[in-house]
Amino acid sequence: MTYYSPLRYPGGKGKISTFFSELFTANNLVGGTYIEPYVGGGSIALYLLMNRIVNRIIINDMDRSLFAFWHSVLNNSEEFCQLITNTPVTMETWHLQREIQRNKADVDLLSLGFSTFFLNRTNRSGIIKGGVIGGLNQTGNYLIDARYNPDKLRERIQAIARFSNHIELFNLDAVELVNNLQNDLPNNSLFYFDPPYYVKGKGLYMNYYNDQDHLDIYNAITQIENQKWIVTYDKVDFIRDLYINYRMFEYSLNYSAATVGKGKEYMILSDNCILPPVSPIKLSHNQ
Ligand SMILES: C[S@@+](CC[C@H](N)C(=O)[O-])C[C@H]1O[C@@H](n2cnc3c(N)ncnc32)[C@H](O)[C@@H]1O
Repeated sequence: MTYYSPLRYPGGKGKISTFFSELFTANNLVGGTYIEPYVGGGSIALYLLMNRIVNRIIINDMDRSLFAFWHSVLNNSEEFCQLITNTPVTMETWHLQREIQRNKADVDLLSLGFSTFFLNRTNRSGIIKGGVIGGLNQTGNYLIDARYNPDKLRERIQAIARFSNHIELFNLDAVELVNNLQNDLPNNSLFYFDPPYYVKGKGLYMNYYNDQDHLDIYNAITQIENQKWIVTYDKVDFIRDLYINYRMFEYSLNYSAATVGKGKEYMILSDNCILPPVSPIKLSHNQ
């Protein structure tokens, strides 16, 4: 599988990209718009755009570090690539980049975006606040640059920049994004919501949700009338009960960051969304 995202993302959904391409075909949405309000590493959005399954992607992340990364790739790709070329992958740089995250509200977007990228590529499991690969003393089997291939990463960034006219980026709360967009979107659009996990969110991501947040986004999602939507979540009773009136399936993903082994997830679909006849991922009915 080709990787399009320059970011390694904890819980990243790259593996279900092919499912989404089948979904677009089944729903007659090829050439349409894909909206991902919790974009994170963006692997599905990039897969769909770069394989020309959709013509436009709208991506959003409320976390300023993630927003800064995408903003820099889309608007300052050359400077970004130069930073990759000129920045040594050392522990000294790592400490400097970590300091930038501590002032993330004030620092300029290019510096913050590069810092997000650098730490994502040099930290264990891509967790920005996590520890460096190989440990602070660099005595592990894998070292700080084990996941940092400058040539490949620059290529990915340049490839995204070439599609920048087809990408809209926002830095909003997902509820606000949905409310702002809804009336302006064509009907051949599909939203994919991958909110912070109910249980695992706290450890993995910089932002996490409480019950009220899960309820608020549920209300926004279920008010979408003319477009189609899909939501995925970790498999917990609160989520099952919340979406009880919608079609819900279970499927498995291999987490790189959370528990070892397979994590079960829920996938919930809007009533107007047709499931692909042959699914690249195994969906089981939720009892
Ligand atoms: C589960 S992750 C999404 C992962 C993404 N689907 C991927 O495959 O890489 C959740 C993302 O939502 C972002 N986020 C958290 N709270 C948010 C909010 N209220 N509105 C928008 N984005 C938010 C986090 O910064 C994080 O990147």
